[in-house]
Amino acid sequence: PKITYISHDGSRYEVEAELGTTVMENAVKNLVPGIEAECGGACSCATCHVYVDEAWVAATGEPDPMEEDMLDFAADPRPTSRLSCQIKVKDELDGLVVHIPERQA
Ligand code: FES
Repeated sequence: PKITYISHDGSRYEVEAELGTTVMENAVKNLVPGIEAECGGACSCATCHVYVDEAWVAATGEPDPMEEDMLDFAADPRPTSRLSCQIKVKDELDGLVVHIPERQA
């Protein structure tokens, strides 16, 4: 499935993601800047914060309670905020667009 990351300055990064991996892992693997992922995907750092594009909010679903708590530590959280290490790549998410915040927590 294809994922597009758009940085705060408008740069676009299109990557071919692997099923079963996470949106965070594909950013790191493809050297997409702005996703730090300090905890390596354990849902305990909030430095993999992204804004899901409005068109994809329904498909990506709601954060679970643990992710919700951690999002309080993200810089400038919004209703579309997610931790990208908690979004699993699946066929339904082919074409997913996420926006990278200007800075991480
Ligand atoms: Fe740390 Fe996602 S990588 S919360």
